[in-house]
Amino acid sequence: MLSASFTLDPAFTVAPVSRRTFGSFVEHMGRCVYTGIYEPSHPTADADGFRQDVLALTRELGVSVVRYPGGNFVSGYRWEDGIGPVADRPVRRDLAWHSLETNEIGIDEFMRWARKAGVEVMYAVNLGTRGVQEALDVQEYLNQPDRTHLARLRQANGATEPYGITMFCLGNELDGPWQTGHKTAHEYGRLAMETARAMRSAEPGLELVACGSSSSSMPTFAAWEAEVLELTYDAVDYISAHAYYEPVNGDLGSFLASAVDMDHFVTSVAATADSVGAKLKSAKKLKISFDEWNVWYQSAFQATQETEWRVAPRVIEDSYTVTDAVVVGNLLISLLRHSDRVTAACQAQLVNVIAPIRTEAGGPAWRQTIFHPFALTSRLARGEVLRVEPRSPRYDTARFGSVPLLDAVATHDAGSGDVTVFVVNRHLTESLDLVVSLAGFGAGLRVTESWTLADEDLHAMNTADDPERVVPGPAKDADVTDGVLRASLPPVSWTAIRLTTG
Ligand code: AHR
Repeated sequence: MLSASFTLDPAFTVAPVSRRTFGSFVEHMGRCVYTGIYEPSHPTADADGFRQDVLALTRELGVSVVRYPGGNFVSGYRWEDGIGPVADRPVRRDLAWHSLETNEIGIDEFMRWARKAGVEVMYAVNLGTRGVQEALDVQEYLNQPDRTHLARLRQANGATEPYGITMFCLGNELDGPWQTGHKTAHEYGRLAMETARAMRSAEPGLELVACGSSSSSMPTFAAWEAEVLELTYDAVDYISAHAYYEPVNGDLGSFLASAVDMDHFVTSVAATADSVGAKLKSAKKLKISFDEWNVWYQSAFQATQETEWRVAPRVIEDSYTVTDAVVVGNLLISLLRHSDRVTAACQAQLVNVIAPIRTEAGGPAWRQTIFHPFALTSRLARGEVLRVEPRSPRYDTARFGSVPLLDAVATHDAGSGDVTVFVVNRHLTESLDLVVSLAGFGAGLRVTESWTLADEDLHAMNTADDPERVVPGPAKDADVTDGVLRASLPPVSWTAIRLTTG
């Protein structure tokens, strides 16, 4: 029998768990907004037209912050199209997703939805087709308390109080040639710096995110970050990172090790940012906003591009397997492990479009497999992230070389005394015995809840007809004896075990 072990100690802390790690993303794309969060004719719709079944699932998912309104969409978006009487709003072409945007949902509606969902909004400004003035205008509309033209316009549109958005993304993926208004690092860095300075002169306390690379496989990766940060370092707080994973040619072994790539991505961006900081003789440390991440069957999407101009077409509505859910759980382990640098992250996206929540127009909303590790990690990761150094058997992967079978992280909430362990077993066919020494915590910890996500069919998924095909169940043999936690981890599984005292 294979086995893996590690030692937990309350003194070995990484950083506090940042609630913003459990962010999501709502883009005006496909059916994320229309027939996703908003469908006035749906039986569960509230007075604002929001689907209450989706609102309930969003709350259950434990989402803390939502990035809005894009994505590639934002790089051609005019925010003022989405305010005022709905009947007067223009229908526009969305070049990013080759669809029609009706603008039925705009800032004021989305902020109402966010309040109902209990989430913070991370707002992305358009630095693709627009610039400093438009960024200042939307900031004024959102945040200026009163007396100015745009504050009064917001008040006339029903929002007396300012929305108080603190986190703004300065554009989206402007390193990508597919992006409307794509720029060189120098062009973007100058624009982001000027925009950041202007926005900050109105509100010094803003948290601003400069665009990093749209993926670590971009030819300009790291060089883009270095040049952008040399221009923006003093003006921003975050550099963004985006990463999507999928099995390539059916290679599940490499796919299950996707978190190895995410780890490498984070450490590379942090090293690049630190090297710019050193060059600029700055004491400031930039944080990373991993504001797009997920499993995305991107190769399949690239083969099927939209040709007609339609409203809310079905775009990238990936159905997720239990294996995808294990990878998502592992990516969350990676994000938590880097909590000293990654203090915000957004799973892309929330509903229908590569999402944990799926809906049918006029029909049900259900939890995809990837919903479960996200919801459980968001609920159980509390307090401080603990450093974990597992001893684990390894396996060979085509993409990442030799990697450990076990990946793990843990959190400790000093207030409640709770310790939670999050682990994955990446073995395709064999179980792994987990042994965790808890000696540093003294006696008295016991298992109070445990969850494993696994299935004999690695391709099992949840559908509208069978929405509970894959759900988490209790972890096998999870128990603490003599200060040692043991559990049996099935092949291709994600597990969370909560320990409490008394
Ligand atoms: O999330 C889907 C798309 O992926 C986003 O619009 C874009 O930013 C990224 O390339």
